[in-house]
Amino acid sequence: MSISKVVSSKVTSQKSIEERLQIKRLVEATRIVTSTAGSDIVKGLTQIPKSLPAYYFYDDQGSDLFEQICELPEYYLTRTETAILQQYAGEIAQITGACELVELGSGSSTKTRILLDAYQELGYLQRYLPIDVSAGMLENSARQLLGDYPSLQVYALAGTYEMALAQLPPTQSPSRMVGFIGSSLGNLNPQECDNFFSQITNALQVGEYFLLGIDLQKPKEILEPAYNDRQGVTAAFNINMLEHLNRRFEGDFNTTQFEHWSFYHETAHQIEMHLRSLRSQTVQLKSLNLTVNFATGETILTEISRKFDLKTIQQQLKTRGLVPIQTWTDSNQWFGLLLCQLQA
Ligand code: AVI
Repeated sequence: MSISKVVSSKVTSQKSIEERLQIKRLVEATRIVTSTAGSDIVKGLTQIPKSLPAYYFYDDQGSDLFEQICELPEYYLTRTETAILQQYAGEIAQITGACELVELGSGSSTKTRILLDAYQELGYLQRYLPIDVSAGMLENSARQLLGDYPSLQVYALAGTYEMALAQLPPTQSPSRMVGFIGSSLGNLNPQECDNFFSQITNALQVGEYFLLGIDLQKPKEILEPAYNDRQGVTAAFNINMLEHLNRRFEGDFNTTQFEHWSFYHETAHQIEMHLRSLRSQTVQLKSLNLTVNFATGETILTEISRKFDLKTIQQQLKTRGLVPIQTWTDSNQWFGLLLCQLQA
């Protein structure tokens, strides 16, 4: 190790976690300054068929349940993507060179560590900018990362992807890579997906990178158990959305009177997750001034999880200027990881 490296590591190691951590709370700020919080709930519950935006899954409890889903034997997505990352993170870092990593929907940042390790090994470790709606989860995992990576800076943004991508601080590195791993793209409908790609291209400079993880199309015998696990964790995750609404909007959903229902829609290539009312009932969300009637068997669509065809998504990204420069999959071709570069 050269003297300058020893000196610089001494200087950085003197920086405390507090000095290396910045958290920008976009969600809190939005709640205070806007009167539109919950308007998407009113819209979703007053239309037929009823629906709720999937981001209401992720209060602190929901984020915790999602972490448990990722460990389930039936939920192959996380371990498959993790294995791909473990195999190819070094290659990703080689291709991008030194760059700061922006991660959308970072959760507990477990998979991110594989990337951070690869960048650290090459001496490329720079700033990490995690984005998540759960401020609690964001802060906890940021503190753990800062403890484990003494030279890392973290600039965390607590908010929706849209808000955060529009408010990224200026890049401090030669390049930037926005990571959207975990197949959360599948939770957006085609129109939302299109808007999302525009937000990505607006957030990047030409030559910068977008790393995308997507779940691929496969038989429903594999897909359906992944969203109907035997331990009932996915069911609890789905039901927690109602508990979240109760807590946040003074609601009185009786969660024992709704059940989890999910299936694979083969022609739309998507898992659909619903909450089904077990009886005729009326629910109030006081702070939204909303009363909703449910018939027996009536459903609320809480999530779609689209499953992609590699060739089609590569083409779609390319037409948006996000040119896939490398694609990796597992031996079953169950999951895909695409490294794209913004071109003019
Ligand atoms: C976050 N997202 C990629 C998960 C998925 O598989 O669509 C959310 C999830 N819903 C139920 N299980 C997992």
